[in-house]
Parts: sequence; C-alpha cells; structure tokens
Amino acid sequence: MTVATYTWREVDRMLAEGDVKGRLTKADLPTPALIVDLDALEANAQKMIAYVHGTGRAIRPHAKTHKCPEIARYLIASGAVGACAAKLSEAWALAEGGVTGLLVTTAVVGARKIESAIDLARLRPETIFCVDSAQNAGDLNDAAAAAKLTVNVNIDLFVGNRTGIFPGDPAVALAEAIGKLPHLRLAGLQAYAGHASHTVGFDKRRQVSLDAMTPAADTRRALEAKGIACPLLTGGSTGTYNIDTAIDGLNELQPGSFLFMDVDYNRIGSQSGDEFYGDFRNSLFVLTTVVSKPKKEQPVVDAGLKSFSTDKPWPPRWRGGDGLIYNFAGDEHGRLMQPAVPVEVGDRLEFVIPHCDPTVNLYDRLYVLRGDQVEAVWRVAGRGKAQ
Ligand SMILES: Cc1ncc(COP(=O)(O)O)c(C=O)c1O
Repeated sequence: MTVATYTWREVDRMLAEGDVKGRLTKADLPTPALIVDLDALEANAQKMIAYVHGTGRAIRPHAKTHKCPEIARYLIASGAVGACAAKLSEAWALAEGGVTGLLVTTAVVGARKIESAIDLARLRPETIFCVDSAQNAGDLNDAAAAAKLTVNVNIDLFVGNRTGIFPGDPAVALAEAIGKLPHLRLAGLQAYAGHASHTVGFDKRRQVSLDAMTPAADTRRALEAKGIACPLLTGGSTGTYNIDTAIDGLNELQPGSFLFMDVDYNRIGSQSGDEFYGDFRNSLFVLTTVVSKPKKEQPVVDAGLKSFSTDKPWPPRWRGGDGLIYNFAGDEHGRLMQPAVPVEVGDRLEFVIPHCDPTVNLYDRLYVLRGDQVEAVWRVAGRGKAQ
C-alpha cells in the first residue's frame, strides 16, 4: 500500500476545507489541536438519549458545550427534539448551520437583541426564548406585534443558580401577565440548577437537585391548576440526568457536557459510589507535542493557557494515565512534572480538558477522529458567540 504524503501547505488546505476523509491521520494535525474521539462521542450520545427516552422524557441537549451545528444536527437525527443555545448569537450560529428546535436558555434583553430575536423567530418559528420579567415579556410582545408574529416563551425560574424569577406565586403571576400578551405563547418553564450538577457525591447531588427542581415542578402544577397551559418543564444536566428524570412534571432534559466530559465532571462521583464519574466517556482531548526538555524531569508541551480552560483549579489530565502530571507553564506551554514514563521531544501527548465548554471556545475547529483517521473537521461556529 502506498501512503500518500502531503506538504504542510496541502495538509493546511485540506484541514481548512474539511477535505480530509481517508486522507489524513492524527499525525498530520498541527498541535495544539482539539480532537474528538467520534466513537466515544457517539456512544455518549446514544446512551444519554436512550436513557432519557426510557424515562419517557424528551431531550434537547445544550449546544453551549460543543457550539457545532454538525453535532446538534447529529443529536436531532438521533432523537433529540432540538438544541439549547446559551445566548442569542449562539442560537443564530446554530440556526444558520441548519439546526431546528432551538431554545435560547437566557433572556434576550435590549432593543437590538429583541430585534434579532424576532428575526430568528421569523427564520425558525418554533424557537423558544426565555423571559423572567413582565417588562421584558412586554418588550418582546411589542416587537412581535410589530412583526406580526407570535413568539414562544419559557419562563426562566430561579432555582438557586443564576437568573430567573422565583418559582411559585411570582412565576404564576408572570404567566398570567404573559397570557394577556397576544403575541407571546407560553411554551413552558426553564429551570437549570447548575449548582446541583457539580455537587460531589451522588446522594448529596440528588438532594441538592431535588430541592432545587421540586419547586419548578410544583409551579408547573400550580399553573395547570389555574387552567394555564404549560406544556414544558425543561432543565437538568449531565450531573443530574439520572436524578431529574425521576421528577414528576419535568418532561425535557437539556444536558450538554455528557458528549465530551472533562476533568471537572469526572470528579463528581457516580451513582454506583465510584469516585470517578464515568457514566459517559471522555471524548474530547487536546493533542500536544513535547517541544522542549530543559530539565529531564520537566519536559514541556506546546499547550498552555491559550489551549485549555483555566476557570477550574484542576489541570488537564494525561489521557495515558497517572504517569504524567501537567502544570501550566504560561500562555503557550505546559510542564510535565516528574514523568514516570519516558518522554522525548517530538512525542505527541493527549490531555483530557479541565472544563469542556470554555476549552472548546478557544478553538476554531474540532478535528473528528475515528481511531487515528481524521474523519471530519467541524467548525466551532458558536465560538465567541457570547452576545
Ligand atoms: C441553562 C443550562 N442548561 C443545561 C446546561 C447543561 O449542563 P451540563 O453541561 O452540565 O450538562 C447548562 C450548562 O451550563 C446550562 O447553562
């Protein structure tokens, strides 16, 4: 068999155009590179979707993790009802990439953003936006009226984490106010308890999540008791998928990190009691090259602060096991402390990322690998889309 060899210019062009299948291998990738193990990603997707469907719930995975229309479309083809987007600009990146069934999980505030939301609703009429105040609901309704549209809204509930209106009476009052706005349609309730997702230890996590989410389910029942239709209660995460699916009234899950996993999630502990949370496989890695060895006991790789998220206290983890401990060594470099395995300049090493969402946000492309073959290059279309 003849192995094709390419110049770096040819490789660069193939990677830029995504013209890679059957032509390039992992060894061709310039480092640092964000790589996805496609077998692991697909296994994670199928496992989560089957689990959630098995409980009779729908799933609308959060795309803030991957920011890739290709992944969102794959999940929808596998049974998801759509994709969540963290912000309006992220939703646009997904919509322009052909993704349907969008739910923008944060409120859209300000005249220009509302204008953009209305344009998105025109393009994708099924899109759901979140509101948590009567004023914002009124502004959205006025813009929808001017555009002769009806816009779907979820009430964002404050369930102990970030934004939202309090469950119970305040949320019911907001639903009643929305009911008087002819250009808004109440789709349901949004409830994300991020503080529960990363609670270490399953029993504790279960308690924290149930405490946070039960008032949301009670609010749905309160609305229905008043004759206010509330078809949806959506929430949940990778850490609580097997907790929240037992809540009566929660009918849609929106986890994201399960696709990739990261060091942060691996430490929360599983239902079986294992300290390592391995319900889903690590599928996302940064491929690095050892570029220097100033000290034998501290080889240096070409990936530092610009290549891994740094919002968590734990460093990247070597994919090969415990033999290499990574320490940040500046913007472009990482130092491997006291390596227990031989490491030479030019070696390529893969690391599990500390936290998937912000790490993906550092890269323009995801290199998709089936074994060592580069199967595809996916653009991180939602990179930097924080507006
Ligand atoms: C609103 C919302 N829903 C769902 C998720 C998904 O959480 P996870 O990635 O932990 O599964 C997030 C993550 O931050 C979120 O902000």
